[in-house]
Amino acid sequence: MPGLVEAALLLASIFVLRVFWLRKSRAALPPGPKGWPIIGNALNIPKEHAWNAFAKWGKEYGSDIVATRIFSQPTIILNTTDIATSLLDKRSAIYSDRPTLVMGGELAGWGTGCPLTSYQSPRFKELRRMFHGVIGTRGGVAKFYEVTERQMRKLLKRLLDDPDKVVEHLRWTIGSIVLEMTYGYKIQESNDSLVELVDTAVEQFSQATAPGAFAVDIIPALRYVPEWFPGAGWKKLATYWAQCHENMVNKPYEYAKARVTAGTAPPSFVSNLLEERELSPDREFIVKSAAADMHAAGTDTTVSTIHTFILAMNLNPAAQSLAQSELDALLGGERLPNLTDRTNLPYVDALVKEVFRWGPVGPLGLPHRVMEDDVYEGYHIPKGSVVIPNIWQMLHDPSVYSNPSTFDPSRFTKAKPERDPRDSCFGFGRRICPGMHLADQEVYLACANILTLFNITKAKDENGKEIVPSGEFTGGVVNYPKPFKCDIKPRSAKAEAMVRGFETV
Ligand code: HEM
Repeated sequence: MPGLVEAALLLASIFVLRVFWLRKSRAALPPGPKGWPIIGNALNIPKEHAWNAFAKWGKEYGSDIVATRIFSQPTIILNTTDIATSLLDKRSAIYSDRPTLVMGGELAGWGTGCPLTSYQSPRFKELRRMFHGVIGTRGGVAKFYEVTERQMRKLLKRLLDDPDKVVEHLRWTIGSIVLEMTYGYKIQESNDSLVELVDTAVEQFSQATAPGAFAVDIIPALRYVPEWFPGAGWKKLATYWAQCHENMVNKPYEYAKARVTAGTAPPSFVSNLLEERELSPDREFIVKSAAADMHAAGTDTTVSTIHTFILAMNLNPAAQSLAQSELDALLGGERLPNLTDRTNLPYVDALVKEVFRWGPVGPLGLPHRVMEDDVYEGYHIPKGSVVIPNIWQMLHDPSVYSNPSTFDPSRFTKAKPERDPRDSCFGFGRRICPGMHLADQEVYLACANILTLFNITKAKDENGKEIVPSGEFTGGVVNYPKPFKCDIKPRSAKAEAMVRGFETV
């Protein structure tokens, strides 16, 4: 059993290293909970809503920066936007790496994408450059406005025809925008094979990268265990996931490439890059990976955020009617809001910010890894530490946001507005979300369009009693609203007629 012997040796050396590490740096580490031998605080971190435990530690130890240890891994939690900005942004030269994830990154194949690529890899800069060139600015994103506007109208039509399938409609809409932008691919009205491919792979990504889900992430030597070994079912799963990931990367790319070769490709992220020049195999691989990131990272996050908006409207009718009054005053019920209207819709703009703040889809962002020993406010941050920005806490900090659990867009329209949540909900420094302008545009258009023509109210049960959603979220690394019922109906006969008029679009 060579795998087990190696694992035991590795465990022992982790223990020795840990003791050494603790001795060397105990005095200067940020405060935090004392862990158990070997496992550290691994068992103290709840699988759901871990951000609450992290915030509680901050209070308990009187510090917004907290040190903990998960097995042998020193892990630093940042509980305020200011500290995250000081470290991840201002010192981004050393805080921009990612931890290595053996299961998700290496075995299941996701390591080729930007979110898990090491900062030190030359591919990282190439990937970021490609994103920046296409969606890195508001102007770049505005080039895809036509696709977004067209698909948003279809969303309104879908909501009118079948209001109970909100999440399905949102998935279809965002999937269609991203796949058309990225590959020039127009998805089927239902059961589209590419969308299914992406959805399956993204679900596998969440499972593969869930913290503590696979022992191989704690004992990397387990990767050498053969698939036939008893108890090594996870290894077969990794091989299957890697295959699904490869299909997700290759199939839509091959579709776009064939159309570029045939001279029939509409402009898209991939066609732009393919027409640019003859690609080396290395560069082609990077183009493929960047394209896959666009749909893998850009779909679930945006869908969940718009679903959070629907939940917030259901629970907060007053905010909904204030936004609708503003829209009516500007548009007179004659047309839909567009991008340029945003500056004349301060309350709607504030409502979008409040959606990002109230129920962030990435409450812990993605972990960074520090590449050098560092000192912050007298605390030692050891090289190799994983750094987790507690975005949820930053956005629910009562010293920054009054009544943080209340959904209240007016916090951003006051004479002295509260902090823009986009300072933290898209992450930090050189790793900041490259899709932030696109996501912001999509979420604004979805909120403004839906509110112009629809009322979102509480559904009723069989006795006519209103069903009040719990307002809860799933609590995972990717945080979705828990399923809830609601009523989505056109605001008037005129609004319904307007949506019907979109049928031919
Ligand atoms: C509401 C929507 C979205 C939210 C809240 C969100 C949030 C985030 C966050 C918190 C990170 C981690 C940043 C860090 O490590 O500091 C991230 C990374 C990333 N996001 Fe987004 N995102 C959204 C939509 C999108 C979209 C639409 C795309 C693509 C078109 C996208 C592509 C990516 C990629 C590729 C990364 C990895 C960047 C890197 O590792 O350098 N995201 N996002």
